[in-house]
Amino acid sequence: MSYCPRCTGCQDFWATVAGWACRQAGLGGKFRLMRVVKVPLGQRTYAIKIGLGLLRRLGAECSRLQLGQRCAVITDGQVGRLYAAGALDSLRASGFVPALVQVPVGEQAKSLITVARCYEQLARHRLERRSFVVALGGGVVGDLAGFVAATYLRGIPFVQVPTTLLAQVDSSVGGKVGVNLKVGKNLVGAFYQPRLVLCDLDTLRTLDVRQLCAGLAEVIKYGIIYDAALFRRLERDMPSLLARDPETLAAVIARCCQIKAEVVAQDETESGLRAILNFGHTVGHALEAITGYERYLHGEAVAIGQVVAARLSAAVAGLSEDEVERIVALLQRARLPTTVQLNRAQRRRLLNAMRLDKKVSGGQVKFVLARRIGQVVWGQQVPVRLIEAALDRTAPGAGSGAGPARGPAVPAG
Ligand SMILES: NC(=O)c1ccc[n+]([C@@H]2O[C@H](COP(=O)([O-])OP(=O)(O)OC[C@H]3O[C@@H](n4cnc5c(N)ncnc54)[C@H](O)[C@@H]3O)[C@@H](O)[C@H]2O)c1
Ligand SMILES: [Zn+2]
Repeated sequence: MSYCPRCTGCQDFWATVAGWACRQAGLGGKFRLMRVVKVPLGQRTYAIKIGLGLLRRLGAECSRLQLGQRCAVITDGQVGRLYAAGALDSLRASGFVPALVQVPVGEQAKSLITVARCYEQLARHRLERRSFVVALGGGVVGDLAGFVAATYLRGIPFVQVPTTLLAQVDSSVGGKVGVNLKVGKNLVGAFYQPRLVLCDLDTLRTLDVRQLCAGLAEVIKYGIIYDAALFRRLERDMPSLLARDPETLAAVIARCCQIKAEVVAQDETESGLRAILNFGHTVGHALEAITGYERYLHGEAVAIGQVVAARLSAAVAGLSEDEVERIVALLQRARLPTTVQLNRAQRRRLLNAMRLDKKVSGGQVKFVLARRIGQVVWGQQVPVRLIEAALDRTAPGAGSGAGPARGPAVPAG
């Protein structure tokens, strides 16, 4: 079956028909139509497949790519315990000769030291130019393994199997790969596209709820920057998403991937439009930096950043107060923090960190702001006093009008 590459509407339609037919045939939830999103980049076009049971099909899916026999599955300790055996079995069953490369869990692993250790293991397993890497895990593993693939033997193919919601809707799509330096995050990297992305919804069942919610911050972001209908759907379907209902997840993840694919296809190397994906990230990144990357998960910091960006949008870009409150309310329903308490010194550090963000050019802090839900403008300079005012309104108990702020009102470190 082929799909209209431009919309998920027809995929939703066929998924509903297939679901109904399955139920009629007594197959229950065993079979559901897979969603496919294309990332159209000429010669480097690839598919993102979203569905249940995809990890079991990893070998068969890789067979279609006409790659060499040898490959390496790079994963972290936690994901490895759960899913490495299944991935290796599937690859072997399709005639591949996989090696397992396990890296430590967490952001610390995204370093040049780990990269060097991975190279050694690929060399020991005699990976050559047609061999490939499978990145099995969250965004940390995806960024790291993608960078290893981009640079080993000047680049070998790689396949993403993202296992967190954040990785499925964001980091596995678009080809940004890289690692951190001690002085800053993601400072070394490349644009290097995978050959295939497999989002297996089954893997989300074992994901910690806090990680799931952090992924929802990026999902909500797509609604704000690009798609008012997606935003309304999230307002309606948040309980099903939190309950990890596969059909809702499939439809929402597919739409997010489609939005990212459209943006990346127009601006692969972030010289313009791709900047809209940073809505909420100017403050979010700064908040992560001044709290030592320990207090907040990325999505949590971005949730707070989106609240500040929404308030700035109301001040200078025409977003209505009603829409600001809808954004705050949806983030709260996704169990994300929407307030932050900062004393004067912390606020100064936050503003300095914003100026140091690597996305800053010519020393100017620029924001992505919403005109309304579903439409943003980027490259907006905002006077510091307005940023301060938006931060004031984001303090706990500042009286946003959306009722008491529920997310943890965490003092910054
Ligand atoms: N390349 C990009 O465009 C891009 C975009 C956004 C974020 N990122 C990067 O992504 C990283 C964050 O990714 P993340 O949020 O996925 O975190 P992560 O990769 O650290 O995963 C979070 C935790 O969940 C565990 N885990 C993963 N999948 C699981 C599963 N299915 N079941 C149980 N546990 C599981 C991991 O072991 C880890 O402990 C950051 O390094 C960030 O810079 C990259
Ligand atoms: Zn992000």
